Amino acid sequence: MEDSWSSSVDVHLDWTPGSGRHALANAVRAAIRDGRWRSGAIVPSTRALAHDLGIARGTVTRVYADLAAEGYLHTSQGAPTRVATAGAEALSSPDPAYTHRPPRQWNLMVGRPDPSLFPRDLWTAAAKRVLQHTPNETFGYGEPRGSSVLRTTLSAYAGRSRGVRTDPARIVICAGFSHAIGVLGRALRRVGITEMAFEDPSFVRFRAFAAATGQHVVGVPVDEQGMDVTQLNSPAVVVTPAHQAPMGVTMAPARRTALAQSGALVIEDDYDGEFRFDHHQVGALQALAPEKVIYAGTASKTLAPSLRLAWLVLPRALVDPVVSVIEAEGVYVPMLDQLVLADMISSGAYDRHVRRCRLEYRARRDRLVAALPPHLIPRGISAGLHLTIPMSFSDESAVPALAARHSLAIATVGESRIDADGPAGLVVGYGAPPKNSFGGTLAALLAMLQEM
Ligand SMILES: Cc1ncc(COP(=O)(O)O)c(C=O)c1O
Repeated sequence: MEDSWSSSVDVHLDWTPGSGRHALANAVRAAIRDGRWRSGAIVPSTRALAHDLGIARGTVTRVYADLAAEGYLHTSQGAPTRVATAGAEALSSPDPAYTHRPPRQWNLMVGRPDPSLFPRDLWTAAAKRVLQHTPNETFGYGEPRGSSVLRTTLSAYAGRSRGVRTDPARIVICAGFSHAIGVLGRALRRVGITEMAFEDPSFVRFRAFAAATGQHVVGVPVDEQGMDVTQLNSPAVVVTPAHQAPMGVTMAPARRTALAQSGALVIEDDYDGEFRFDHHQVGALQALAPEKVIYAGTASKTLAPSLRLAWLVLPRALVDPVVSVIEAEGVYVPMLDQLVLADMISSGAYDRHVRRCRLEYRARRDRLVAALPPHLIPRGISAGLHLTIPMSFSDESAVPALAARHSLAIATVGESRIDADGPAGLVVGYGAPPKNSFGGTLAALLAMLQEM
């Protein structure tokens, strides 16, 4: 059906001739959000659309490139451009980040920790302590920047565990990194920054959140040494230096230094920094340039994504703009959860839990790597809850149908790619399955790989 919607078919866009490139991009975004340009459908070729609208082909090419970077369109080498599937759903559904895969028996989705590892007992004990001792003010409206107790605790924790240079006054609590990226998109506009670069590949939902704040989103290629800093030309950039998402590489020391000295404002997404499996410690990039790097930590991997708890360590000049965006939004993280996390960290329970999880995930990583067929060489295995398996474009494009047949929820690098010529492969989120089903999930993956 969707393939019949070829590049020569007429499409309607609410666009006034002469209104410019940004208006054209808005018209295409609206067509995708409204479902008029359907998820997965082939879009008109740049030549055909330029002809129909009576504008230069280069204008359409730039609009398509921008929309691919934002996650609305999906470009693929040697294939027509399509409306993105995950991206289009993410941009139109009310709960974009965590529902974009149909239920399958086996889950290897990147970015998910094992929900069965949530420390129910430790959380209950900490919640009890908090409720017994917290003053009545806890039940008021709270602070837009977050609980001072949690900010003080996190200041010590981020310094001790990740080498972050901070004090409580620089810390702001957000409802997950997903919330933080939107807050930052707005705050950066207030200080005159209107373009944000992201690694290519990088997760589409974060690019979409930034684009939704009016930021122009562009991609910077990633190779074996992490993001290629020489290709960065934007005033702000979001990076995952400790364990690139999704490729898994660690940014090389020379690139870290170059990035810290580049003059760009860096948003360091340290989403799984607690899970390093080798002895090669990779501290926070933020320590190299605390006034140029925004450090972002999250409880989504160590505890649970549903807590919606993340923290930003900000350059001093950005504290007020960020707090005023949060105040204007009126969205604060629940105070009791903040206090429970603070209690868990200061009692040592959080560190013990993280250590236990690290052992579990490392054991899974070892089992997975040992079980892979020898011709598949995994990458990004030193850290985090996922690794990648590089593969050809044609093997990658076979994955969705094969995964469905094996009832496996799994992502490809292609879903995160901005440039159609970028890397291809499979992203194996071995952290996702509950402990008791890891064996079955691994067997499903191996059965799928055998058919490729
Ligand atoms: C690359 C990356 N950054 C950040 C996060 C954390 O996002 P949040 O704090 O909104 O759960 C994730 C979670 O999947 C991630 O994969």
